Amino acid sequence: MRTELAPIGVFDSGIGGLSILKALRAHMPHERFVYFADSAHNPYGDKSDAFVIERSRAIAQQLIDGHQIKALVVACNTATAAAIHVLRAEHPGLPIIGIEPALKPAVAVSRTGRIAVLATRGTLHSTKFLALHNALAGQATFFCTPCDGLADAIEHSLAKQDTTHLIAACATFIKATGSFGQEKEQIDTLVLGCTHYPLVLPYFRQAVGAQVQIVDNGPAVARRVAGLIHPAPQQAPSAPLWLSSGSVHSLQQAADRWL
Ligand code: DGL
Repeated sequence: MRTELAPIGVFDSGIGGLSILKALRAHMPHERFVYFADSAHNPYGDKSDAFVIERSRAIAQQLIDGHQIKALVVACNTATAAAIHVLRAEHPGLPIIGIEPALKPAVAVSRTGRIAVLATRGTLHSTKFLALHNALAGQATFFCTPCDGLADAIEHSLAKQDTTHLIAACATFIKATGSFGQEKEQIDTLVLGCTHYPLVLPYFRQAVGAQVQIVDNGPAVARRVAGLIHPAPQQAPSAPLWLSSGSVHSLQQAADRWL
């Protein structure tokens, strides 16, 4: 039974979706959330579409059967690109909201018309992303860099105190993308097209400098979700329910750190 009291389901390959969950909770403090991290199967970024579709289907089914969710947020660019059409076809009555790299908002704010897009290889090579890119290609030049291994490094960074490798990785991917700044030929806007990347936002900020705009689509996604659900009545905010195909304890630790 999907009543307004039912929770909103959110999933990602791991902890990346926490960056979206944060925006959802800020915008809808009365809603209940159940968050699933597919930690036993990440990263998704270098897996086949068939694999990501199967995992997404299984997770959606678990959230629907076990928690009667009233909406599903696919808080993962890679899973959205590979699987959202399948999920929507299988669950036509359920609002299903995905995440895509924020190219449109970036076009709206960029002055130099040169925009960097960092994402997983799976996202950048997807038909969905190519369609978005081609639709906007006349309005800006996009510099797209697949950040192999970065989501995985972020996922496993909790266990390590030393963040030097993450800082270095962010700097390397930024350097490989191009020259950032406000001058005519420079990239002035950065799109973080993987939900893991906002978790290391300070390292990207350090690499691109203070002037470059870093686009965050969390608040826009939260507004879209709010417009599609039957809202919960006023009630005290509650902690999300944490689920994982790996360690729930690690997920909770990550949530304590990132939320
Ligand atoms: N956080 C995900 C995304 O937005 C997936 C990262 C991964 O598992 O490779 O694409």
